[in-house]
Amino acid sequence: MSANRPAAVVVLAAGEGTRMRSTTPKVLHEICGRTLVGHVVCAAQELDPEHLVVVVGHAREKVQGHLQSQHPGTRTAVQEEQNGTGHAVRMALEELGGTVEGTVIVVCGDTPLLTGATLSTLTATHTADANAVTVLSAEVPDSTGYGRIVRDGLSGAVTEIVEHKDATDAQRAIREINSGVFAFDGKLLTEALGQVRTDNSQGEEYLTDVLGILRTAGHRVGACLAGDHREILGINNRVQLAQARGLLNARLLERAMLAGVTVVDPASTMIDVTVTFGQDSLIHPGTQLLGATHVAEGAEVGPNSRLTDTRVGVNARVDNTVANDAEIGESASVGPYAYLRPGTRLGVKAKAGTYVEMKNATIGEGTKVPHLSYVGDATIGDHTNIGAASVFVNYDGEHKHHTTIGSHCKTGSDNMFVAPVTVGDGAYTAAGSVITKDVPPGALAVARGQQRNIEGWVARKRPGSAAAQAALSTAEGSAAEV
Ligand code: UD1
Ligand code: CA
Repeated sequence: MSANRPAAVVVLAAGEGTRMRSTTPKVLHEICGRTLVGHVVCAAQELDPEHLVVVVGHAREKVQGHLQSQHPGTRTAVQEEQNGTGHAVRMALEELGGTVEGTVIVVCGDTPLLTGATLSTLTATHTADANAVTVLSAEVPDSTGYGRIVRDGLSGAVTEIVEHKDATDAQRAIREINSGVFAFDGKLLTEALGQVRTDNSQGEEYLTDVLGILRTAGHRVGACLAGDHREILGINNRVQLAQARGLLNARLLERAMLAGVTVVDPASTMIDVTVTFGQDSLIHPGTQLLGATHVAEGAEVGPNSRLTDTRVGVNARVDNTVANDAEIGESASVGPYAYLRPGTRLGVKAKAGTYVEMKNATIGEGTKVPHLSYVGDATIGDHTNIGAASVFVNYDGEHKHHTTIGSHCKTGSDNMFVAPVTVGDGAYTAAGSVITKDVPPGALAVARGQQRNIEGWVARKRPGSAAAQAALSTAEGSAAEV
């Protein structure tokens, strides 16, 4: 076990977050594909703590349900009434049997930008300095609302934390603030929490009072200044939610760029934390990459595309496309203006072209669906060409049916494939056909009305019209040529 491995991390997430003005609890709001509390839990997990406890209260069924499904490594402690951050930590320790031996890290569930690296630095400083408590502090441009770190005028040692609402004017001028993140000695924390009082402006048990209590009792207390104050940004309203999203998005894009991804316009590119890239992939402006999307080596996506849970193969090209749960093969080409829905699998060098929609469709190697088509519930072999404006008629009003088209087929433009139906390898179909019966391999299927021309119809039915005159002069012209 690493010397810096904490015995427990406690995440405070019981508050309502009134200022979000939302029916969704604050910590369940999302940025970059993960909830606020999810980001904090993931950072905490990088410390590999023995216990990870999230304190829940407001809308606790929702928060607990989310944690169980998305972050199963966590356990929860219930804080029935939100009597303050100190009270919340007491509830977590009770869940862990009253006290914990070793280091206890406390973080707030509304600081999604906090990194595992910063938590590690805090833990290492705390251990190296043999402190009873170490607070992660920061110098912020505007300290309004934060607890202030009060230091001894002579020695510079940290003496206490004073909440904004309880601070004197002189204390409010202090720029160093409490980030809300702490490392504690577990046993001393339990003892000190028993002495926290509620005689403050909010009538709450403040966790921050523990620092002064331990100091007065003669224990070592310290502060660890965060390198980047933006990391401790706490989300209280949706303006801060948007700020945090922008900062996190920029951080994710920076990491991708440094790893060899070209992002043409970071300002108009948004990615989730779960998105991955191969080297020399290229992202054009106006692109959103979401969920488990992967853009492989040399692939190019955008402009103006939104890919969710989609795998883009090596050297593939995706332009002005919306895709959900799709797999795009190596050197395949998608768009401009394509819509790939769940279950679309495009093979190597396959094409889903302009105004093409696909769903639950497997498209073979080198097969092209270039223009204006809907391909739903289908399997198409290799090196087949589907004519423009084709529709795979998969729905009879009650059930969906499958269409199978073989390899090396050439289907005509404006075909309807009325499923269930099969077109054999090497078969052709005529333009304008409604294919309702299976086509044997190598056959040509023609399924359309016969054309008949009624001579002189315009002259008889539309006499004197521009059309009649045009027809007449053509007839005269050809007569003169003879
Ligand atoms: C707190 C700190 C303040 C610090 C700031 C940093 C205290 C008393 N104050 O203030 O020094 O500068 O964070 O952002 O600790 N929570 C519970 N149960 C409760 C109360 C709060 O779980 O009874 C949770 C909230 O859901 C939230 C976190 O604790 O995630 C912080 O609570 P909040 O009310 O936002 O504290 P601040 O006033 O921001
Ligand atoms: Ca807060």
